[in-house]
Amino acid sequence: MLDKINEVGASKATFYDLLGGEQGGTAAIRELVETFYDIMDTDKKAAPIRAMHPDDLTASREKLFMFLNGWTGGPQLYIERYGHPFLRRRHLPFSINESARDQWMYCMISAMQQLKMDEKLMQKLAEQLYGVADFMRNQ
Ligand code: HEM
Repeated sequence: MLDKINEVGASKATFYDLLGGEQGGTAAIRELVETFYDIMDTDKKAAPIRAMHPDDLTASREKLFMFLNGWTGGPQLYIERYGHPFLRRRHLPFSINESARDQWMYCMISAMQQLKMDEKLMQKLAEQLYGVADFMRNQ
């Protein structure tokens, strides 16, 4: 496992592979996204970013699930359905400052911990997602 993790970026193994690949990567991402939004929905620390989202999180859950499948190196579900994500542009209507970014990361890291994801994998995934979350910042 550790050797495989060290291969991320260097060669073949993608995050999708490390999350279980065709055998379980999609299921692992589904579980991660569900736990992420459950935390955002209930943890007071995430209340400001929860308030930016619709009352019903069903579509948010589905979109992040589809996006992360492709982003991790798995099937490009989001792009097949909606085309290019233009992620930063889609976040411009929301005021995303450092605090919002950190709340998003808090929900994601808490979800990974709750699901007892492998420590090394968690670190690498969190590091990469932090880059995306920081890129969403518009304040
Ligand atoms: C930095 C803090 C972030 C905040 C406060 C935030 C907030 C939001 C909000 C309010 C929406 C619109 C409601 C919805 O469709 O769910 C949204 C959409 C979305 N976000 Fe974020 N987001 C953040 C970071 C991220 C990151 C890091 C990713 C990807 C790794 C991401 C992926 C998405 C996707 C895929 C959508 C759906 C876009 C669409 O409408 O098709 N977001 N986000």
